[in-house]
Amino acid sequence: MDADKLVEELAASFMQTVAVLGKVVISLERWHEGSHSSFVAQKSGAAARLIGLGAADVIEIETAGRLHDIGKIGLPDSICAKAPSDMSLEEFRVYSAHPENGRLILSPHQHFDSVGQIIAQHHEKYDGTGFPDKLRGEQIHIGAALIAVADFYHNGMHRKYPGRTTQTFIPGTGENYIRATEPRFANVMNALHNRSKRWFSPQAVDAFTSVIEAERRSLGIRTVMRVGVNQLKPGMFFADDYYASYGLLLVARGEPVNEESLPRLMHLAEIGELPQKILVMR
Ligand SMILES: [Fe+2]
Ligand SMILES: [Fe+2]
Repeated sequence: MDADKLVEELAASFMQTVAVLGKVVISLERWHEGSHSSFVAQKSGAAARLIGLGAADVIEIETAGRLHDIGKIGLPDSICAKAPSDMSLEEFRVYSAHPENGRLILSPHQHFDSVGQIIAQHHEKYDGTGFPDKLRGEQIHIGAALIAVADFYHNGMHRKYPGRTTQTFIPGTGENYIRATEPRFANVMNALHNRSKRWFSPQAVDAFTSVIEAERRSLGIRTVMRVGVNQLKPGMFFADDYYASYGLLLVARGEPVNEESLPRLMHLAEIGELPQKILVMR
């Protein structure tokens, strides 16, 4: 067998190993109906690509995304079914071993070295309050930071914890995403953005947001946001009617934002005829 062929076969064999392990992880996903690991893999990979990471890094991050919860093998159902905030101290101690367990499970295979490192860090938090090592900021691998964001989003959108309702799950305060066609999406995005720089790397939150927004746009779904008048951009649409103090309609709901009208709108905001922040759809 020539060398090129051997390299090709080894690469294929590695990907098949990932696929086998991926099936094992899916069998652990009773609480997500089997969609969680592929969502986290896809979105963290897409966000990594958007940030400009190279192909090898992207594959590593996607792989870590697919396998991030492999360390949950052996956890009792009674723990898997709960949100960490509902666990007893003892349950949390058992649960919080899963990132390091994941690394250990993969450690006999040398090509899973960096994937294992990323998995070991997927519950670290940007402000150093995560586990197991209380890493902070840039100490956390960007792949682990991206997986943490995709994981949070997917849990918020899909996980049905027994006894919990969507209203009590996320206390969003509406900084950025104030309304949307789907309240749950708005709540989860609010909660995500509110935790940027605390739990999550701001770079990871921004990259993930761009990936999700691009997908929503391609599906024809618009998001309503409150933005500063100086952040208006062509491609956005006004999401509300805005009147001058003397009753003149300045902009109408549904009207596109265009380049030429921006200086006028900035001026109107400066003199107080338009609020500093207004509702737009994008
Ligand atoms: Fe996890
Ligand atoms: Fe997860």
